[in-house]
Amino acid sequence: MSKMHVKLTVNGAAVEGLAEPRTLLIHFLRESLGVTGPHVGCETSHCGACTVDMDGRSVKSCTVFVAQAQGADVTTVEGLVNADGSLSVLQEMFREHHGLQCGFCTPGMITRAHRFLQENPTPTEEEVRFGMAGNLCRCTGYQNIVKAILAAAEMMNAQDTPSSAE
Ligand code: FES
Ligand code: FES
Repeated sequence: MSKMHVKLTVNGAAVEGLAEPRTLLIHFLRESLGVTGPHVGCETSHCGACTVDMDGRSVKSCTVFVAQAQGADVTTVEGLVNADGSLSVLQEMFREHHGLQCGFCTPGMITRAHRFLQENPTPTEEEVRFGMAGNLCRCTGYQNIVKAILAAAEMMNAQDTPSSAE
């Protein structure tokens, strides 16, 4: 099959490469671009390990052909760090609340949680569980993942709220 010239933005940088149109976005990211944060798990849209943000929505990159991502703005877990390279509040809360064990699901979890908290900045525990339902973890039992996301929401909202002294 002939290859197409793919151009997209990944973590804020313009990137391009040649790929068969049927190449899955997860493989283009990992194998052509060396962006290995998103993981290959089931490759059948069930586990969420491959989750990335594409044009403001969470997508499972094993279900997206690279041809569908032409011109898209893609963010992976690598792109969620602060400008100085330090961990974001959400990443830090996963660390602090032990929201991971083997870490295989974690890039997808954090990328989905990042988008989820933009969709719903003040979620209940039930809403977190529902919003994260497309991402599976085989280690943690989810409890600490939920705690981490709720803690991140609280911290991010506190940062956004001007203190009464101001
Ligand atoms: Fe994409 Fe599992 S690898 S959902
Ligand atoms: Fe191992 Fe989630 S931490 S699969």
